[in-house]
Amino acid sequence: MEGAGVMDFKEQLKASVDIVKVVGEYVRLRKSGTMRYVGLCPFHNEKTPSFSVHAGHQIYKCFGCGVSGDSLQFIMEIERLTFYEALKLLAERNGIPLPKRSEHTDPDTRLRAAVYQMHELALELFRKQLQEPGGAETRAYLERRGVTAETAGQFGLGYAERSGRSLLRMLEQHRFTPEQMEASGLVGRRTDGSAYDRFRHRLMFPIHSESGKVIAFGGRALAKEDEPKYLNSPETPIYKKSHVLYNLHRAKQGIRKTDRVVLVEGYMDVIGVTAAGVQEVVAPCGTALTSQQVQAMKRHSDKIVVNFDPDAAGASAAERSVTLLLDEGMRVRILELDGGLDPDEYCQERGAGAYLACLERAKGYFYWLADRARAKFDMRSAEGRVAGFQFLLPAIQRLGDKIERMAVANDVAAYLGVETGLVLENFRKAALERKERAALVAPAPVGHTEKTLLNLLLASGEARGQFLPALRGMAAVEQFPTRRIFETIFALEETGTPISFDAVNARLEEKDRDLLASAVLAGETDESFVSLEQGEACLRGLEVSSRKAQVAELKSRVKAAERSGNLAEAMQLAQELGRLQRN
Ligand code: UTP
Ligand code: MN
Repeated sequence: MEGAGVMDFKEQLKASVDIVKVVGEYVRLRKSGTMRYVGLCPFHNEKTPSFSVHAGHQIYKCFGCGVSGDSLQFIMEIERLTFYEALKLLAERNGIPLPKRSEHTDPDTRLRAAVYQMHELALELFRKQLQEPGGAETRAYLERRGVTAETAGQFGLGYAERSGRSLLRMLEQHRFTPEQMEASGLVGRRTDGSAYDRFRHRLMFPIHSESGKVIAFGGRALAKEDEPKYLNSPETPIYKKSHVLYNLHRAKQGIRKTDRVVLVEGYMDVIGVTAAGVQEVVAPCGTALTSQQVQAMKRHSDKIVVNFDPDAAGASAAERSVTLLLDEGMRVRILELDGGLDPDEYCQERGAGAYLACLERAKGYFYWLADRARAKFDMRSAEGRVAGFQFLLPAIQRLGDKIERMAVANDVAAYLGVETGLVLENFRKAALERKERAALVAPAPVGHTEKTLLNLLLASGEARGQFLPALRGMAAVEQFPTRRIFETIFALEETGTPISFDAVNARLEEKDRDLLASAVLAGETDESFVSLEQGEACLRGLEVSSRKAQVAELKSRVKAAERSGNLAEAMQLAQELGRLQRN
């Protein structure tokens, strides 16, 4: 695909996929008008929705962080794809065939496409090898751990055989270059230049992007003495550990349905907990939790149950993760399993029902933290109780909602046996600090008249026929912050170019694009279906204010002429003024 062809295809694709559906895969959207939907912005952390999608103009915009674009740009941003990859993904997802010669033009995209393909091939090979005689040991291992063949199939589990050459050979047969193979992270290179499979004699867990493409693997050693226990894919052109959550592509439906995320530490925990009937479970991929990962889950639900391993490492990982989760505005509960069992072991040993019961009983984060404070401080003395409360305060202050903050503080104080007076005092101080920080600048809103008229002019030819002649050259329009948008519409009309949101938008500078997006998306009401009568009312209003402005200007010129003794001119201006006022 090249040049004009690609652009035609892009337009065709954009016309046949609905941005509400595209965005809806990643963001919970709520209808808020005939054409408008709103939700929490997936690109920044927020508690009240400022992210809008317009079904008519097929655009999105966030009034919090300013991102905006069409469905293709959305996919590029959220999946971190290049233009061509996003095009391909959207086309494939909607069953629209890509045009022939869909060769990727830039080397970057070409390499990434090769790496995706290699991962597809590797997945199939590993799955096949699990079924072969060589996979018997791994199959037995899975059986021992209670993973059924069905579950293994569902998670795409596989086996990378011992020799360390089968994947390499397969990739060579498919004519991937040595450079491409190395970039995939699936193949390593010895100092003598010879290549080998990175994963050898390991149980393989494919790792997927949110849209369900295989982008990496985790490989578990089968014997206790093999090191490391898990060997993971390195960072590659298609894999950035810190942005990926294991199992999110499968769990996201469950997360939305139950309105909660269950976060565990390991691949095996995800599999065991899913098999127990909990579909909303994800894990980081062998790294500490990052804010990108939290944002990815938060798009589907802002409630989370953290269920880490019961050992000391698990507890401190949980504590660190929780700070981050609270900062990102998640509502956190902690699930502690008894018997020193990790989630997978617990499901295996105690059964799905027992695990589900624990999940429902999971304590709010602050009670968990209060229990830790109890263990750290001497709760028999007043000083100890106060110290315990102070230990909890920073976490409580992180809560975004004032009422919730107060309620939690009171609950926790009661739980620890601390006086309410102390709570109030601490809160007053913190509230003052917060006020000083919260000096946010809101974008300039577009006035009601401009908004109504712009929405009308974009929506119908009839409206343009009726209003454009009057608007052109009107003094008040020249004073609008949106004047360049009006001028662009005038210019398009003059040259007979069809007028649409896209056509106007394409000819604007960044700042004016923001204004245009505001005009069609911002505000309490939806202006997509403004009536011609409303337009006429705006126009009359403008005429009145234009005339008032003219009158005021004439009056001051009359005065100036009189003051400078130029009576002839003053007379003439006064006559003009009279004419204007009679009209
Ligand atoms: P665990 O050791 O708890 O693994 O590490 P697990 O998933 O529960 O597996 P089993 O039950 O022991 O077989 C938790 C996660 O940390 C990462 C992996 O993502 C693992 O799932 N990890 C662990 C590594 O990346 N490398 C390691 O060597 C160990
Ligand atoms: Mn485990």
